[in-house]
Amino acid sequence: MSIDLIDLLNEHQGENFALHEKHLNTQMVKVLKTIGYDRVYTKAKGQYLYDTNGCEYLDLLSGFGVFALGRNHPTVINALSDVLKADLPDLVQMDVSLLSGLLAEKILEKTPAGLSKMFFCNSGTEAVEAAIKFSRYTTKRSKILHCEHSFHGLTLGSLSLNGEKVFREGFEPLLPDCNAIPFNDLKALEEALQNKDVAAFIVEPIQGKGVNLPHDDYLPEAARLCKRYGTHFVADEIQTGLGRTGRFWAIDHWDVKPDMILMAKALSGGFVPIGAVAMKSEIMEKVFNRMDRAVVHGSTFAKNNMAMAAGLATINVIDDEGLVENAATAGNEIISAVESMTTRYEFLKAVRGKGLMIAIDFGPPQSFSLKTAWNLLEAANKGLFCQMVTIPLFSKHRILSQVAGHGMNVVKFLPPLNLNNKDTTWIINALDDVIADCHKVPGSVWELGKTLASHALKAKKSS
Ligand SMILES: Cc1ncc(COP(=O)(O)O)c(C=O)c1O
Repeated sequence: MSIDLIDLLNEHQGENFALHEKHLNTQMVKVLKTIGYDRVYTKAKGQYLYDTNGCEYLDLLSGFGVFALGRNHPTVINALSDVLKADLPDLVQMDVSLLSGLLAEKILEKTPAGLSKMFFCNSGTEAVEAAIKFSRYTTKRSKILHCEHSFHGLTLGSLSLNGEKVFREGFEPLLPDCNAIPFNDLKALEEALQNKDVAAFIVEPIQGKGVNLPHDDYLPEAARLCKRYGTHFVADEIQTGLGRTGRFWAIDHWDVKPDMILMAKALSGGFVPIGAVAMKSEIMEKVFNRMDRAVVHGSTFAKNNMAMAAGLATINVIDDEGLVENAATAGNEIISAVESMTTRYEFLKAVRGKGLMIAIDFGPPQSFSLKTAWNLLEAANKGLFCQMVTIPLFSKHRILSQVAGHGMNVVKFLPPLNLNNKDTTWIINALDDVIADCHKVPGSVWELGKTLASHALKAKKSS
């Protein structure tokens, strides 16, 4: 008997929240209901989501960076349905597949000189775990260095490279010998490396939490220091890679040559989970150095045909549609439009980013009445103000965005890379309107602010 999935979906349409409340993460349901994000989406195409009423939403979150091509791209769908129709052998394990060889070759055409081997896995965090293990094994050192405020995933190894208390608390002890240094601090990096006992420095070229940009000399100099002290320089491009920042890799902005590049998210085409590590051949050859070690690291589903086909199709679309260039152009347009607003709005402090990885900073205003309102929110919960931007962006302008991290007043845009002129105008006008509303005290946005503050205070009391 076959299952008619469309019938099943139609029969249960609208039960999403009830099912999740009952069987999955109840707190997530609570969050979505509290901030008014409890829409039922029934369709998605490109950069847009559609709810049961047919309302169109512009998605600037893109599944945390998964949907670089937008959703349901026909080229990826065709590639995946070709695989399904072809009755290909998959995951034979005592075999090596053609599709993984082809995807490896395609990715390595895009990586900086010196990287000539690929390792595939199923997610970003698995790529980070591989980098930790490969670095320890090949250097015979145990220490791993990362940056404060970094995010590399949430499994135990990658969580050990995450300084954020909220993620770590209650899950410790984590991996030993993992130390944080400030981002953009070459002196701290050299001090940490000079004992020649650090296996790897794992760094996001642009930090996802807060969208922190490196100084122009930071990454090239960090790579040079790592080389000098025998430490692997690992670029975590899981969020920044595949065109996100207006270059294929973010490290290309600074012409950096790492020992490993980690990738995931966008490589999936938005369909099939995948992670990968591009590396120097000597690393691969040291880890897999004997026949009895041929499977010393890996994962059952790694290199599955669907993931490999999605990866090949994704790179094809990125090239074909000029998405890297579009990310640079659309990103510049948004950044310069927001920059021009900073003179008009007291709360709006700065905008920064590269390509379509953009952060908008809010901070305390000058005038007395606004300052009182700001202080009220900050006292309830640091970083609450930016929800007064993201919530109306969503409820009034149908734009889905995110806050850039815990405890910071930073709104982040991480949209699909295919934004068009209509989208950028939509974003700029909506932002202008919402920020203008924030400056009206009293006003409807500050009514929302009061509600958010009271929720935050209640949560504080009960914790
Ligand atoms: C820079 C970076 N590294 C690693 C990860 C973890 O990836 P995943 O969620 O696929 O495990 C993320 C996810 O957001 C990320 O942004």
